[in-house]
Amino acid sequence: MKGADKNKSIGIFDSGFGGLDILKTITKKLPDYNYIYLGDTARTPYGTRSSEVVYEFTKQAINFLFESNCEIIILACNTASSDALKKIQQEYLPKYYPDKRVLGVLIPTVEEAITKTNNNKIGVIATEGTIRSESFKKELLKLNPKIKALQKSCPLLVPIVEAGEQNSNFTETILLKYLEPLIEQNIDTLILGCTHYGILERKIKKIVGKRIVVLSEAKIIPKKLEIYLKKHSDIEEKLGKNKKRVFYSTDLTDKFTRLGSKFFGSEIKAKKIILK
Ligand code: DGL
Repeated sequence: MKGADKNKSIGIFDSGFGGLDILKTITKKLPDYNYIYLGDTARTPYGTRSSEVVYEFTKQAINFLFESNCEIIILACNTASSDALKKIQQEYLPKYYPDKRVLGVLIPTVEEAITKTNNNKIGVIATEGTIRSESFKKELLKLNPKIKALQKSCPLLVPIVEAGEQNSNFTETILLKYLEPLIEQNIDTLILGCTHYGILERKIKKIVGKRIVVLSEAKIIPKKLEIYLKKHSDIEEKLGKNKKRVFYSTDLTDKFTRLGSKFFGSEIKAKKIILK
């Protein structure tokens, strides 16, 4: 029994395959642990759904991952982190999984942004759901009430990335339309608050120029997870270190395998599961 306790995995959940970009950088920094990735590809995108539905779907995903022997789960999805995380941490976990942990991607990113800004003007681009929840704005203000958070929802960016059109000319035009109002308001830091935007990072950097620091979660989360695990040795001690990578998705399409492999940086073979 004791041995089994030391063989737990780290669960990574996203609405689709965007979170694989975060899994890629996490596994680079912390390669020894066992990871289970779950993408809810049958029901993606979450960014256009109500917070009630996102909460229900996220709850089903964390049930699955905990039942699959995860000790800790990262919601590598900004929409789920915005709409569901707090309720899961405050209401669901204490009742059903009191010893387990679910973490999001929002707070680590906000903490990083606070250290980067000089003029306190921080831009956030994300899905409609994340922007509607104002979660980034609230967390930024909690850390520093002087921050001016300038938010912009970018509903066309997820479909563009999903269609593999990130290098098309029209993508630049659309990015310009979304980013110009933020640049005009003199932001000096920009949070890419959606898992899909990492793949657009280079284009975004080109548009906003060197003056604006662009923060991509795939670069922030691995170091924050490392710090978290060092601080929480009770959790760390339970984690297996056999370098296992297991991928699940709720729909298996060519697109998931193709784009997922691109996001992860090497080929993935996912198993299909049903969430309920
Ligand atoms: N994973 C979502 C996020 O980070 C983007 C895709 C979606 O809308 O489901 O917000």
